[in-house]
Amino acid sequence: MDCIQNVDRDIFWVGGSDRRIALFENMFPLDNGVTYNAYMIIDEKTALIDTVDNSIRRQFFDNMRASLGGRPLDYMVINHMEPDHCAHIEDICRLWPDVKLVGNAKTFQMIRQFYHMDLEGRTVEVKEGQELSLGRHTLRFYMAPMVHWPEVMFTYETSRHILFSADAFGSFGGYNGNLFCDEMDYFDQHMEEARRYYTNIVGKYGPQVLAALKKVGGQEISMICPLHGPVLRGPDMGKMIEKYTRWASYRPEKAGVLMAYASMYGNTEEVIHRLAGMLSERGIRDIRVYDVSKTHYSYIIARAFQYSHMVLASPTYNMHLYQGMDTLITDMGKLNLQGRKVAIIGNGSWSPSSHTFMQKKIEEMKNMTLLVEPMVIRSSMLPEQEAQLAAMADAIAASIKEDEPAINA
Ligand code: FEO
Repeated sequence: MDCIQNVDRDIFWVGGSDRRIALFENMFPLDNGVTYNAYMIIDEKTALIDTVDNSIRRQFFDNMRASLGGRPLDYMVINHMEPDHCAHIEDICRLWPDVKLVGNAKTFQMIRQFYHMDLEGRTVEVKEGQELSLGRHTLRFYMAPMVHWPEVMFTYETSRHILFSADAFGSFGGYNGNLFCDEMDYFDQHMEEARRYYTNIVGKYGPQVLAALKKVGGQEISMICPLHGPVLRGPDMGKMIEKYTRWASYRPEKAGVLMAYASMYGNTEEVIHRLAGMLSERGIRDIRVYDVSKTHYSYIIARAFQYSHMVLASPTYNMHLYQGMDTLITDMGKLNLQGRKVAIIGNGSWSPSSHTFMQKKIEEMKNMTLLVEPMVIRSSMLPEQEAQLAAMADAIAASIKEDEPAINA
């Protein structure tokens, strides 16, 4: 049974949704699934823009056939070669043997790598700014390397000003029937998962995202059709472009503090809770506390991108960092997170060293500020360390208040 939706004149959504999937990329928990979007343009020539993940194969081909209405497929535009979007290239070439594959040189190299296909006579290789006319609709291609993978490109439909943005502007979360962001409370339903998607999947490539946004920024855009999540249009589209610009610049969205801790027997946790209370007493009203053993690091990464300040606390384990904290802080570095204000608390019963590992990793990241010297506790905090913790709270609270006007500007 097909499940297509009209996107615009002659343009249809032919994607689908998978809520059975537990882990995106076999790594990131999905609480409510994910959509895989693909789009069909029915014109003098027909063109499919991207395919979908193998998990929703039947839905996709039902949608393909319904949208084509018996016509042949002339073009398949491949904006991104990650297999959650290109799993059906071989099948499509078998079902519509005259289809031409539209991509760039790197696209075709990856098709050969993944599928070992003979592409002789099948390809239309496009370069920056090149156009392809379908009749009433013309597609223009913009290279967007590393807006996740090197072969990524954006496709811009010139008559209706629609941007097919590959992974950019995507979100986790399954299909709810409302395809467009203005048919729902997008910020309530999708913002958290759009941030988690961006920061964990594309977050490393901020400069490349900014370059791609600049490239298409001169065009009128009426609608953004990403490969995951709702189609964007109207005021929320503008807000999402602002969010993307902020995330890609590593600028925090909020003046507040993320507190992430590891704790084996509750002693480090107790210090974090005491510090959180002290911050509240000092007027800080946006505090998020996470146990790295309970919350998957991808959720905490999203908060780290969102908030201006962070406190990291961890026991020493095997003369190193506790694993959950090591994973979190290493991933922050890999994702190029930068420009945050940080405080560190280490714990150890006979040779505390977690604080030195956390400090080293933070110092290896760009433009990070350690607000105070790391605090070290031995098994549990001593009453006489209360003053040191209060001084840490003073420094964090003062710094948040100082940064608040610029962040909210
Ligand atoms: Fe949704 Fe980079 O693939």
